[in-house]
Amino acid sequence: MEEKIFKIAEKIKNAKKITVITGAGISKASGIPTFRGKDGLWSKYSPSELATYQAFTKNPKLVWQWYNYRRKIIKAAKPNAAHYAILELEKIFKNNFTLITQNIDSLHRQAGNKNILELHGNIFETKCLICDKIYFDDTIYEDDELPPKCKFCGGKVRPNVVWFGENLDRNILDKAMEASAQCDVFLCIGTSGVVQPAASLPKIASDIRAFVIEINIEHSGVSIYSDEVIIEKVEEMLPKIVDLVKK
Ligand SMILES: NC(=O)c1ccc[n+]([C@@H]2O[C@H](COP(=O)([O-])OP(=O)(O)OC[C@H]3O[C@@H](n4cnc5c(N)ncnc54)[C@H](O)[C@@H]3O)[C@@H](O)[C@H]2O)c1
Ligand SMILES: [Zn+2]
Repeated sequence: MEEKIFKIAEKIKNAKKITVITGAGISKASGIPTFRGKDGLWSKYSPSELATYQAFTKNPKLVWQWYNYRRKIIKAAKPNAAHYAILELEKIFKNNFTLITQNIDSLHRQAGNKNILELHGNIFETKCLICDKIYFDDTIYEDDELPPKCKFCGGKVRPNVVWFGENLDRNILDKAMEASAQCDVFLCIGTSGVVQPAASLPKIASDIRAFVIEINIEHSGVSIYSDEVIIEKVEEMLPKIVDLVKK
């Protein structure tokens, strides 16, 4: 393992451009449950049944209850050692660094990263279906306040997150694809690699012969595109690697 870590640190050190993609696994040590894997979210409902526009149309209160519940968990969470290790990478690579995240939890922003592409939106933003405004909203609502109403027009609002079956913001996806196609090291962290189109980004990097590194506690859909796979907790492994990069 030590040898592998040295090799990876060396690859990162010699990189001109680095792109990082993170998934729910990076926030697990901050106390935010992942969707898949052992301690999946909500036992009664499956996220794929709640995180859809159809579910919202059918029962907006239930969908908002689910986001309210997740807001509560996420609001209490703090970035962990892995988020801060990624901040160090941005400090080293500056404009040659891109962070793509599938997470909606803001923990990368909270850690201090600047160049972040939030592929799936942000749980602390609310979007109005009537006036189209998107605004910051980290309210934990009482049950009888759900579903909330637009603070501008009183219209129907939803969380500003991308649901299953919905398209990603084209501009953000284009930037993510470009960053994946132009890096020489691609780091893929804590994602099951099954949610598209995010899951195709490591393949884009691999196709242009970037060195793809995966860190996950188990093999994932991304492993086949990876030049090195490290099966370890990211909050333990990434700080070690970044320390070596800085030496
Ligand atoms: N924190 C969040 O914002 C959050 C939480 C849950 C789900 N989601 C959403 O769920 C979707 C699911 O995709 P996903 O791939 O991000 O998550 P996922 O739940 O499908 O997969 C999580 C992955 O993280 C790995 N993992 C768990 N703990 C780890 C650790 N300590 N170190 C390294 N790896 C670890 C698991 O093995 C798994 O492969 C995304 O669209 C995302 O928006 C977000
Ligand atoms: Zn409105």
